[in-house]
Amino acid sequence: MIETVTELPALRARIAAWKQDGLRVGLVPTMGNLHAGHFSLVELAREHADKVVASVFVNPTQFGPNEDFARYPRTPEADATGLEAAGCDLVWLPPVEQMYPFGADNAVRMRVPGITDVLDGAHRPGHFDGVVTVVSRLFNQVQPDVAAFGLKDYQQLAVIRYLVRDLAFPVELLPAPIVREPDGLALSSRNQYLSVEQRAVAPMIHRTLLAMRNATQAGGMRAAVEAQAREALEAAGFVVDYAVVRDRHLDEPEDGPGERVALVAARLGSTRLIDNLEFTR
Ligand code: PAJ
Repeated sequence: MIETVTELPALRARIAAWKQDGLRVGLVPTMGNLHAGHFSLVELAREHADKVVASVFVNPTQFGPNEDFARYPRTPEADATGLEAAGCDLVWLPPVEQMYPFGADNAVRMRVPGITDVLDGAHRPGHFDGVVTVVSRLFNQVQPDVAAFGLKDYQQLAVIRYLVRDLAFPVELLPAPIVREPDGLALSSRNQYLSVEQRAVAPMIHRTLLAMRNATQAGGMRAAVEAQAREALEAAGFVVDYAVVRDRHLDEPEDGPGERVALVAARLGSTRLIDNLEFTR
């Protein structure tokens, strides 16, 4: 059975023993309810570290007041089984008072400026503040040499890159490719909220991203590409937060060739899905 640790002193003792043996430690931060996307991060971390720690913590500070914190699926036993099979060495499963000793409302809050003002930062005020607040703690608790994050949450990875560079965290970030269902839908813990009908429509997001790439590469104007994507998603029943083409820093790109990423956030009923696609124009 994989070792599960719920108290910080025990975690620190484990990590210290590994480091004393000269072992490199990898971290995979998660909120649990794990799927093949998460397990691919464990496998990636394995390739760059001798020991892999996965954290499982549904972080209250990154959920808005009307978001799904209370109903976020919690499946610790299945998570532990899957993590073990994926090659993880230890599960860090802190109760909230281990993560936030003064309570989540009294936590020292972190904020990354600039990049958090757009896209998901604009649509989910305070979300990325909560993400960097918890990820900083995880870095201090686990002291990893490497940490894996999925490109599925493209802006989150950009925000964490900024955090690591600005605060000089001694950790190397490992970006992991998006794992998808055979029909193109990006794996997400939120997919299980979808009704059968919504699940059938959801892969439209990936198809739209491919269409945005193809239209851009064929010389389409960005405004037209974005408008067409939004229209197609709305016609399929989505409420669209954004459907945009950006440069790799999430700024509006200059005309002409270069590295791009198409990003979509859209809701089916009360379920909000995000996805993106990197390409070269
Ligand atoms: P969570 O949504 O559980 O995701 C944990 C990690 O798994 C993130 O780095 C995310 O990008 C990655 N991931 C999720 N679905 C993926 C997929 N289909 N393919 C590849 N990677 C995927 O992201 C969070 O948790 C939290 O914000 C966290 C960073 C843990 C801070 O609380």
